Amino acid sequence: MSDNSDCLSVTCQASPNIALIKYWGKRNEELILPDNDSLSITLDLGELHSDTTVSTSSSMTCDTFYFDGIQQTKLSKRMQKVLDEVRRRSKNDQIKFVEIRSHNTFPASSGLASSASAYASLAIALTKLFNLENPQSTAAYLARIGSGSAVRSVYGGFVRWSSEGECLSSCIYPVEHWPELRLIILIFNSSKKLVSSTDAMQRTRETSTLFQARLSTVNDKIEKLIQAIKIKDFNTFAKIVMMDSSQFHAVCMDTYPPVIYLNEQSKHLIDLVHAFNKTDENETMKVAYTFDAGPNPFCFIREEHVDEFLSLLKHFYSSNNDNIHKQVSNIDGNFSSINLPIMANALERIVLTKIGSGPKII
Ligand code: DP6
Repeated sequence: MSDNSDCLSVTCQASPNIALIKYWGKRNEELILPDNDSLSITLDLGELHSDTTVSTSSSMTCDTFYFDGIQQTKLSKRMQKVLDEVRRRSKNDQIKFVEIRSHNTFPASSGLASSASAYASLAIALTKLFNLENPQSTAAYLARIGSGSAVRSVYGGFVRWSSEGECLSSCIYPVEHWPELRLIILIFNSSKKLVSSTDAMQRTRETSTLFQARLSTVNDKIEKLIQAIKIKDFNTFAKIVMMDSSQFHAVCMDTYPPVIYLNEQSKHLIDLVHAFNKTDENETMKVAYTFDAGPNPFCFIREEHVDEFLSLLKHFYSSNNDNIHKQVSNIDGNFSSINLPIMANALERIVLTKIGSGPKII
């Protein structure tokens, strides 16, 4: 915490998390209590992160919020709710108002879980600034009432968000547990999604009959997935993760009016991954995808297969974009057995990353 005369300031950096088993549906909108447990991986801070600085001084007369350096006309209802909860818990009467400055290293509202990293960093910074009791569970609570999935970004490694009891999150395996696991995020389209997760999941609850059927499958999937993570069984891990992603998107499609987050490139990538996995003689899975509320796949892969997968991407999504060019492998693979169309220039960006150890105060 920095302290200039009477100005106190804390900065926290947090990364998005990607759900392996999706959260979709709230049984309590105000407190953001989920209908089902979910499981995620918190990403490394290296590439994608939100940085949030909260400051206070006696001269402040209201709360203010700057996003990417631009002052916002007002705070969102959820941000206001988080601040009200902080003041309710605070024992420090000196702190009345705060200034929030937040910045993301990646596009917001495009299915890359920016609200998770934004609210996790805000919650942790506020917990520290106000010196609140039980900092970890308090930060998790504050993050959750900001945006449900943010509760999982408060921890690093593999994280479970429980739908029972206090509905908080916990780390089930730390970052060191599966060091060979890598993530490759393919950004096909970074524009803002048409329907927010918040609105879409409410609509699903109201209209989808598949939704209840999905809920009845989640706990079993979570237990099996935890077991697969425990023994680092990539085949089982990959199958469960891909199936949950598809089930989630099927439920979105079953919503009325339907919510469609996947696009042509997403569907191409799904076919490509299955075709690529089939090329292994031992039928060992090499890659698994999952899609959040957007068209951009998060691909899980073990380190040993990264180069081959990058050369596959180079082959099918060859690009004039210099940044992408640098990242895709120099190895040219032979993919003649994969009978799918080439989608040149489909990619805006590729992010190579891994599991992270969680947020940090900087
Ligand atoms: C598809 O956490 O963005 O990413 O709680 O309304 O803020 P609110 O929704 P949000 O929903 C995320 C949904 C998801 C799946 C997941 O992250 O588990």
